[in-house]
Amino acid sequence: MTQLDLTRLAPMDRYKLLTAVVIPRPVAWVTTMDRSGRVNAAPFSFFNLFGQDPALIILGLEHHRDGTGPKDTARNIADSGEFVVNIVTPDLVEPMVETAAAYAADVSEPEVLGLELAPSSLVAPPRLAAAPAAIECRLKDTLRYSPERDIVVGEAVALAAHDGLLDTERMHVDWDGDYPVARLFADRYARLEEIGRHTIPKPVGQR
Ligand SMILES: Cc1cc2nc3c(=O)[nH]c(=O)nc-3n(C[C@H](O)[C@H](O)[C@H](O)COP(=O)(O)O)c2cc1C
Repeated sequence: MTQLDLTRLAPMDRYKLLTAVVIPRPVAWVTTMDRSGRVNAAPFSFFNLFGQDPALIILGLEHHRDGTGPKDTARNIADSGEFVVNIVTPDLVEPMVETAAAYAADVSEPEVLGLELAPSSLVAPPRLAAAPAAIECRLKDTLRYSPERDIVVGEAVALAAHDGLLDTERMHVDWDGDYPVARLFADRYARLEEIGRHTIPKPVGQR
């Protein structure tokens, strides 16, 4: 058994180990808008849903590793209080990864990469039209446990989905086998086709 005291490791070593142990992680392909209306897109896998009342979405936004401060996404969320989480299916992995390149702050990734946008319903930043589902969020809190990162807590206020994905009578989502991708570590991703074939009933009497 190898036993490691994480508190004694360098942060980057903790990052490498923990992001390879806590897998898979979903990917939020986040669109935001800057003060001049320019739309930014970037992926984040420090991301998940943390409840439904209120419906909380949390993002872990690291600052640039070269010490140049917050990423465009963090700055835009701090300025506007709004963001959209676009869900990534396998066909969208390549354009999603391209939006993670180091574009200058005054460059709109959707514009340079030719990604079509569609209007949101309750927030100003648009969604990415190709994403099958998009969650519109309003900033609730920003937690700053260290100067190099923001933990953004947003409230999910609207959900947009391609036709056929949502069954709003039963409140079901029908991915029809084309599930969102899961990030493993570094540049590895997993497909979730096995999902749905493997069911385990909840224990009787679970609270
Ligand atoms: C799949 C994937 C997941 C990522 N997850 C994160 C993350 O959780 N936090 C983070 O700060 N950066 C993450 N990144 C890196 C950002 O996407 C990258 O720094 C991007 O350029 C930020 O763009 P922005 O400055 O336009 O916000 C991830 C990159 C990829 C490809």
